Amino acid sequence: MAVKTPVVVAIFGASGDLTRRKLLPALFNLYLDRHMPERFLIIGVARRGEQDAFRREIEQAMAKHSRRGAPDPSQWAAFVAKVEYLSGGFDDEATYTALAARIDAAEQDFGAPAARVFYLSTPPDVFALVAARLGAAGLGQARERDRIVVEKPFGRDLASATALDQALRHVFEESQIYRIDHYLGKETVQNILALRFANALFEPIWNRRYVDHVQITVAEDDGVGTRGGYYDGAGALRDMVQNHLLQLLCLVAMEPLVNYEAEELRNKKVDVLKAVRALPLEDPHAGAVRGQYAAGSVGGETLCGYRREPGVEAQSATETYAALKLYIDNWRWHGVPFYLRTGKRMPRKLSQVVICFRPVPHRMFPVHASDNFEANRLVIGIQPAEEIVLEFQAKEPGAGMKLGCVKMNFNYREAFGASSREAYETLLQEVIEGSTTLFMRADQEHAAWEIVEPLLELWAANPSSSFPNYAAGSWGPASADTLLARDGRSWFNPMPGIAGGCGPAGAG
Ligand code: BG6
Repeated sequence: MAVKTPVVVAIFGASGDLTRRKLLPALFNLYLDRHMPERFLIIGVARRGEQDAFRREIEQAMAKHSRRGAPDPSQWAAFVAKVEYLSGGFDDEATYTALAARIDAAEQDFGAPAARVFYLSTPPDVFALVAARLGAAGLGQARERDRIVVEKPFGRDLASATALDQALRHVFEESQIYRIDHYLGKETVQNILALRFANALFEPIWNRRYVDHVQITVAEDDGVGTRGGYYDGAGALRDMVQNHLLQLLCLVAMEPLVNYEAEELRNKKVDVLKAVRALPLEDPHAGAVRGQYAAGSVGGETLCGYRREPGVEAQSATETYAALKLYIDNWRWHGVPFYLRTGKRMPRKLSQVVICFRPVPHRMFPVHASDNFEANRLVIGIQPAEEIVLEFQAKEPGAGMKLGCVKMNFNYREAFGASSREAYETLLQEVIEGSTTLFMRADQEHAAWEIVEPLLELWAANPSSSFPNYAAGSWGPASADTLLARDGRSWFNPMPGIAGGCGPAGAG
């Protein structure tokens, strides 16, 4: 149902990649799905360029990046008439005066005050500047209606994240600040809460008594692409672990909510982060592994090593792979390891959470009946497969008792007749409707930095002498397998098209 309050969305950094690939396609899809208010205006703000060229560019981008493909001409014409362009420097007061005047005029036309969304899709070094200039132009003071959206990276360590918060808080209150972690907009990620807390089945066994360990994987087959310059100064720990992986950890490990409200959800997540045990830095290999890809091949294509990527230092010490073993020191999870890993140039794109249950306490079947025995596993596929698979033992057909591993499968597309919408559609809709549920609160952001910062410092002070240490197209460095092998475990690396049983564990 369309929301009634009109909205103005001002996107700073309108000429950038994110605007073309994600933000405008998401806004157009919200429009087509009737989730935009009837009265709206989108203003792209960027240093250079002009309106007609901008409109042409975003139309072309739509064909490539919108889940619906090339737009229908009449629908596009109606939408794009409400997309304008404002050219001006981010440090130039005139840009903000012009923006304020345009918003005033739009509100006159709407005949009502609008919700005003200021979306910072800019390089992070101008976040504070844009916020300050918005404030000086009188934008930001309508506490209920004005919202600022900040893309990651939100700082590069705890000190810079705190400084950025302070800068934003000069103009905006915490309730007006929407820190994006796009993983929280993914349907399959939100579904973790539905799975856990809307079903009586799983929660009673979701604890140290029944769970042996948890694996959280976010693997990408892509390399750093055109983002080498940014990535080389960041690395996997900053780029992925501090945000996406720790957010997944929170959703898997958090306590049930009293009610599904933003502050309650955020409180419960912070509880998880605060309970994460500090990594054992005196023996770093016991809790963390880093890697950097060498040349190799993915899907038959020969690929260069990380150090040969554009924008990357020839002797770069930046990690493109990180694996951590974390413990959560609370009643529910005491002693249960959570293995987190992420890497670029892995064999395939794969984001999944695997809950590995303990084996049955007593095996009453004869040894020959259960030589294929595998403990139960619940595999939550986040992408590309959007599914939940429960693996369990069953009697194989035939005489006698022989056990085999079988699967029960829930698939989004099959169950709901459509695959999920884009994360940015959900996130933008939430911002427009003024809901902060899916966004990071300052203390969450800080608690996540506190977990990774000691390791960031350790790695920065001790560059790895073994880099590059995994071939593009492999599942990461051998030491990542050792991290689990020491505990008698292995990574769960399913490959599509490999039949049989419940998928290869630890083909690493
Ligand atoms: C971004 C990272 O936050 O997430 C990128 O900066 C990464 O390096 C991307 O490629 C992965 O997102 P997704 O949705 O494709 O898994």
